[in-house]
Amino acid sequence: MRTFWTLLLTFVSLRSGEGLQSCPAPPQYQHLNVTLDEMFRGRQWFRSGDKVSYDCAQDFTPIDGSHYVLCTDGLWNKLSLRCRKKSCGRVSDLPNGEFRYEGEPFIGAKVYAVCDKGYKCKGLNYTICQRSGWTGKFPSCVAEGETTCSTPTVANSVQPEVSVHQPGDNLTVTCDQGFQLVGEQLITCGADGQWEPLPPQCLLTPNVTTAPPGSCGMPSKFYNGNAELDEKYITKTFFSSGDKVYYTCPVGYKPAGGSISRRCEDGEWSPLKMTCERRLCGSAGQILNGQFMYSGVQFGDTATAVCDEGYILVGKATRRCRSEGWDGRVPECEGMVSNPSAYD
Ligand SMILES: *[C@@H]1O[C@H](CO)[C@@H](O)[C@H](O)[C@H]1NC(C)=O
Ligand SMILES: *[C@@H]1O[C@H](CO)[C@@H](O)[C@H](O)[C@H]1NC(C)=O
Ligand SMILES: *[C@@H]1O[C@H](CO)[C@@H](O)[C@H](O)[C@H]1NC(C)=O
Ligand SMILES: *[C@@H]1O[C@H](CO)[C@@H](O)[C@H](O)[C@H]1NC(C)=O
Repeated sequence: MRTFWTLLLTFVSLRSGEGLQSCPAPPQYQHLNVTLDEMFRGRQWFRSGDKVSYDCAQDFTPIDGSHYVLCTDGLWNKLSLRCRKKSCGRVSDLPNGEFRYEGEPFIGAKVYAVCDKGYKCKGLNYTICQRSGWTGKFPSCVAEGETTCSTPTVANSVQPEVSVHQPGDNLTVTCDQGFQLVGEQLITCGADGQWEPLPPQCLLTPNVTTAPPGSCGMPSKFYNGNAELDEKYITKTFFSSGDKVYYTCPVGYKPAGGSISRRCEDGEWSPLKMTCERRLCGSAGQILNGQFMYSGVQFGDTATAVCDEGYILVGKATRRCRSEGWDGRVPECEGMVSNPSAYD
């Protein structure tokens, strides 16, 4: 019985590797900026002769030493690998200027461009060392005399990092939180060194007393003689580029095709295509022994009843064409009661 347990324990020990010769989990060397390779992590025991490998931690690069440690009779030998922080090295040359280094450019370091006398920096004036190397739009030095646009100062906006822009460069203005952009967000540096369109404004609430560039004033209240601007716009003082206003036909008129809106585009209102037609009332009715004389049969026109000879009118003679049709009713022409004096 005792022999059996001894044999069993020996067997279990051999199976689990917890013999005299096995090494525990390999040590971590965080302070050395190295990490145990992933495939060995979590393993609890190693045999004599097993090797595990280490590598430099993120953003570090090997200098010298071996990546391996070996398990010998239950002990790991000391790791000799040495790592140092990655550096991007030197940036390529900067024509008409130079890059200024403050020590080794490790990951995260900025290196500033300093332009020679008579030159100014276009674009960002620095580049950043990142894991992938030097990144960002590389600075360049342009002659002072060259046409450039300087960064517009837009109050309450995020100040762009780039301070000098060349013709054709775009700039996107972003307002600070809580401020509203009035005008165009994307502006382009023009050949004359002016921003096109003019830079927008960032306002807490749109300042109704100041119309931003590209906005339109009040469009005409009437158009084509009778189209009328919808009343809801009359309290506004300006309209931003892209805004639309709608027109309606006045009472007695109805739209006769064409778009009913106008659009503010770069300070100009598009023409109104809509036309309004006078409402048609048609016939004012039939009168027995009489007839209507029309000034017309459309809105605003009148129809006046005239009785045949020997008949007199009963009712209102004139009807007017209104938006809901002819007003009043058809009058009547009645036979005259003979008047003896008329035959005297
Ligand atoms: C590990 O990196 C840190 C940060 O760069 C550094 O201060 C430290 O000296 C490095 N350790 C070794 C042993 O190189
Ligand atoms: C880089 O540009 C920024 C903003 O335009 C400026 O404040 C800073 O002084 C410049 N730095 C150098 C070293 O030229
Ligand atoms: C600036 O923006 C315009 C309009 O979006 C575009 O056509 C042009 O290519 C842009 N220019 C640059 C340099 O990105
Ligand atoms: C609106 O603009 C006028 C003129 O530029 C300025 O005096 C006023 O302070 C502005 N109001 C607001 C609320 O920004």
